[in-house]
Amino acid sequence: MNMESTTKMVSDPYAVDIDSLDFSDGRLFETGLWNSYFERLRNEDPVHYQADSPFGPFWSITRFDDIMFVDKHHELFSSEPAIVIGDMGEEIPLEMFIAMDPPRHDEQRQAVQPVVAPKNLAAMESLIRERVAKILDGLPVGEAFDWVDRVSIELTSQMLATLFNFPFDDRRKLTYWSDMAAGTPEITGGDVTNEERMVALQDCLRTFNQLWQQRQSELEIGEAESFDLISLLLSSDKTDNMIERPMEFLGNILLLIVGGNDTTRNSLTGGLYALNKFPAEFEKLKANPALIPNMVPEIIRWQTPLAHMRRIATQDVALGGKTIKAGDKVVMWYVSGNRDESVIDHADDFIIDRENARQHLSFGFGLHRCMGNRLAEMQLKIVWEEILKRFSNIEVIGEPTLVRSNFVKGYSSMTVKISR
Ligand code: HEM
Repeated sequence: MNMESTTKMVSDPYAVDIDSLDFSDGRLFETGLWNSYFERLRNEDPVHYQADSPFGPFWSITRFDDIMFVDKHHELFSSEPAIVIGDMGEEIPLEMFIAMDPPRHDEQRQAVQPVVAPKNLAAMESLIRERVAKILDGLPVGEAFDWVDRVSIELTSQMLATLFNFPFDDRRKLTYWSDMAAGTPEITGGDVTNEERMVALQDCLRTFNQLWQQRQSELEIGEAESFDLISLLLSSDKTDNMIERPMEFLGNILLLIVGGNDTTRNSLTGGLYALNKFPAEFEKLKANPALIPNMVPEIIRWQTPLAHMRRIATQDVALGGKTIKAGDKVVMWYVSGNRDESVIDHADDFIIDRENARQHLSFGFGLHRCMGNRLAEMQLKIVWEEILKRFSNIEVIGEPTLVRSNFVKGYSSMTVKISR
């Protein structure tokens, strides 16, 4: 399937007819043009029907309040069968609760939710901090290097390994499986063949099967760590036989890996990029590290690591003076809602001591609201606390390379130089 847009991308979206613009074009995010494209939609046609796109026709919802409305009304807007503009491949029928409606969604979410319960996060915090410190201490000072690979990807894979109590030396496998599971062009911008995905996901299932058996015997002799996902699944009588339903087991594991992978990675890069683009904010932070807890949600808003979620209307719905028909695809552009000036002042600016910094759409709303939000925030908080303890500055050199995707809004590389 060719997902390249056939529509010409224009550098000034105001110069052409609004109906000729393709809002699903991943190149908008690779070039930064997304901002002016969506600004025009918010101002001129906030509930916009695009009749033609490589993914078929769809509605773009671009204002903060309208996005909240769609996200909160799961009975009007279904998450099945997929939550990205393009439908996922059907070759591997993974069962992920992010793409399910109640009651199945609720049952499956309840089963894995305890892994990110406050008590569990508190138990993980010191281990995550120790691992963050180790990575930062190993970074070269005064030398240019790629922040994405050395820090963002590495930290994220370590966090995921902690979540699963996964063999530490094999942690990059988790990132690899995540890329494979979500590696379709419309998602990460990657181009993965079905065969490659199949082999990778089989390997993932096999590995987690082994981990399950091992944890089961450790639990029997009272040796398992209690906070990892597998031990939690094994400890509940609702989920202790999940291994007998391989697609559900694999789906739940992969949802946690994929959900926490690109998002955390790109928030780690986006925060540093934002502080370099807004140097007065960096100075403010250095003078007052107590601003970190407020800066973290601001990073997540400003970056918006997932640009959209999509739904299918279950019935005709009136919104913004338009009628969305039953069966229509509806795309909530979080990336646009987070820049809506009618709700967020100076929305394009990165302001670390912003009031109401938590008022953003990046984690969604309603019953699919991100399950890992507290974990992601904790991770970012720890990283920034540890950075400020060690370094006087981290300078971004040149411009980062951005990912070509309409879903994952992120960075493939960013060169930096650290000063002690
Ligand atoms: C769902 C964003 C980190 C696991 C979601 C949704 C968004 C999102 C937009 C869908 C919300 C909706 O449809 O209303 C983010 C961002 C993150 C992040 C921006 C980091 C800054 C994480 C982490 C994990 C995770 C670290 C794993 C531990 C999940 C899961 C769901 C989800 C399991 C599905 C929830 C459901 O369908 O009920 N996330 N996420 N996320 N996220 Fe995250």
